[in-house]
Amino acid sequence: MDDTAPSRLITGIGELTTQDPELGTSHAAALVIEGDRIAWIGPASSAPAADASLDVHGRAVLPGWVDSHTHLVFAGDRSAEFAERMAGRPYAAGGIMTTVAATRAASEAELRAGARRLRAEAAAGGTTTIEAKTGYGLDVETEARLARVGAEVADVVTFLGAHLVPPGLDRREYLDLVTGPMLAAVAPHVHFVDVFCEAGAFDVDESREVLLAGRAAGLALTVHGNQLGESGGVRLAVELGAASVDHVNHLSAADVDALAGSGTVATILPGADLSTREALAPARLLADAGVALAIASNCNPGTSYTTSMQFCVATAVLQHRLSLEEALAAATTGGARALGLDRGPDAVGTLRVGGPADLQLLDAPSVAHIPYRPGVPLTIATWRRGVLERSPRLAPPLE
Ligand code: NIG
Repeated sequence: MDDTAPSRLITGIGELTTQDPELGTSHAAALVIEGDRIAWIGPASSAPAADASLDVHGRAVLPGWVDSHTHLVFAGDRSAEFAERMAGRPYAAGGIMTTVAATRAASEAELRAGARRLRAEAAAGGTTTIEAKTGYGLDVETEARLARVGAEVADVVTFLGAHLVPPGLDRREYLDLVTGPMLAAVAPHVHFVDVFCEAGAFDVDESREVLLAGRAAGLALTVHGNQLGESGGVRLAVELGAASVDHVNHLSAADVDALAGSGTVATILPGADLSTREALAPARLLADAGVALAIASNCNPGTSYTTSMQFCVATAVLQHRLSLEEALAAATTGGARALGLDRGPDAVGTLRVGGPADLQLLDAPSVAHIPYRPGVPLTIATWRRGVLERSPRLAPPLE
């Protein structure tokens, strides 16, 4: 198919998952892309003519993933720390400083190249919208560099100067830096403010201070909470009306109740749950309580070095016991809601006429193959805003 043609018909879709409440899932379907938008969706038998067309021979098409939590911009490697953890050493927030040292030593060009490589890897796996956090600089100059690079490679950028107090610095002085000059330096490039509200990082009062400073600077709020224990991060996120609270491994009944009555999305991070050997986030309990969920990769060198949303969705089904429908929603519309990208004509996470042409093609007849074939990279083409980000390597037609 000529991907530069003004209109492009994708036909022969065996299963079309739209995540749109009205369109639902259909079979023997087709869609037309014009520019960066979806112009038509319907039965393949009544598809309109287009300037170019691609028959996908019964394969499945679904929305691109919305990965609402990553730390894409960093340098260095922590495979030795990972190996120690697999040998029984518990995860501790302090490992962040290993990445901070490597990141401070890297040039902006090196950071850009690394982040672009990960962004391309994510796109090849079906991700069409991605968030990226700062947080491996922890000084004004490096945090500003990470925010600039983040704005180049990601759709949404989050300021995470409150990732850790660098050893040797006075806590009060560091908080003043984060909420003052560091925030001012990153503000032109970022949309959200985040805080690592955990033992070994920031307590609830410190976290509140960081979040309120970010809000005063015009940023939306998100919180890393309740990953390593009942940190109070969930309750703080709900109290302040944060868009999301991420990790949520350790929850009291009151935390679940607070989330259920709130507009805050609980984001589960299956890659981190496995790589830290932390108790799995109680996704089934949260879903049953009516809590809005997102699933994200948390791509970072310490606790979840994966860009694969397909792996995270499969794990959420296999290990966290979400249904496939719940997991797909969490990785598309749930992520969109966590990022505030779920409304208006540019809302992401669904396939609908007039909406962004953000979609992926699986080398499989149905989305059921995502958890059924764990670890197999099923995405063979990704269109982001109508642009094919990876050439289809289409196998012979499915029998
Ligand atoms: O989400 N706030 C936590 N940040 C990462 C871990 C960072 C690291 O260990 O490098 C997380 O798990």
